[in-house]
Amino acid sequence: MKRTPLVAGNWKMNGGQSLVASMATALAEYQGVADVVVCPPFPYLASAREQLPAAIGLGAQNVSDQAEGAFTGEVAASMLAEAGCGYVIIGHSERRALYAESDAQIADKFAQVQAAGLIPVLCVGETLAEREAGNTDAVVCGQLQAVVDAVGVAAFARAVVAYEPVWAIGTGEEASPEIAQEVHAALKRAARKEIDTVALRVLYGGSVNADNANALMRMPDVDGVLVGGASLEALGFRQLCAQVAGSV
Ligand code: PGA
Repeated sequence: MKRTPLVAGNWKMNGGQSLVASMATALAEYQGVADVVVCPPFPYLASAREQLPAAIGLGAQNVSDQAEGAFTGEVAASMLAEAGCGYVIIGHSERRALYAESDAQIADKFAQVQAAGLIPVLCVGETLAEREAGNTDAVVCGQLQAVVDAVGVAAFARAVVAYEPVWAIGTGEEASPEIAQEVHAALKRAARKEIDTVALRVLYGGSVNADNANALMRMPDVDGVLVGGASLEALGFRQLCAQVAGSV
């Protein structure tokens, strides 16, 4: 059985008030069966929540690994909850690579997000070198396992996992639907022992657009998409959401 699909738009450090406004207009009439989540940068979260329809979810792109206190420049999960977020992306490969986030920190963030009542979207993915060395499953399942070890697998009943091969992000070279399916199945096998994996949604991310979303969504274990570049144009993003919604 397919899970309700989820489309999440990760703006990264792009966009502004005008994109918030155009996204709100574009999604005002959205009636598809897919859950849609928009993830703008921190300063736009509150106005996005005000302007987006209530049915559209709001997500942040990062969070502190601490609950509160003297951590200049950090943002706590409880603050994101107050701003109207329902989701938080954690462990994105850009944060792992450019900001040296460790598996341990990512596990702490995961716990903070859930403690605030929000849903973590845990990103995992292999580099091209890791894929070429035949280590894809070991790398992505290892990234998953590091969080499972810290918080327990039961916590994944209230989480989303996103498979984002590093070589496919922002490159225009998406993973084939078959590659995505293979890795998604491996991730679900890894989690299957203790939780009902029917409830665990695994998204694919990496150069997703309105042209390739359908073929990806036809795979049995692709439960949605995490979209970067193609989430920055409001009408195109709505079209992508409609494609994903139409795939079920
Ligand atoms: P992309 O980014 O869609 O621009 O490849 C995806 C992501 O990094 O989440």
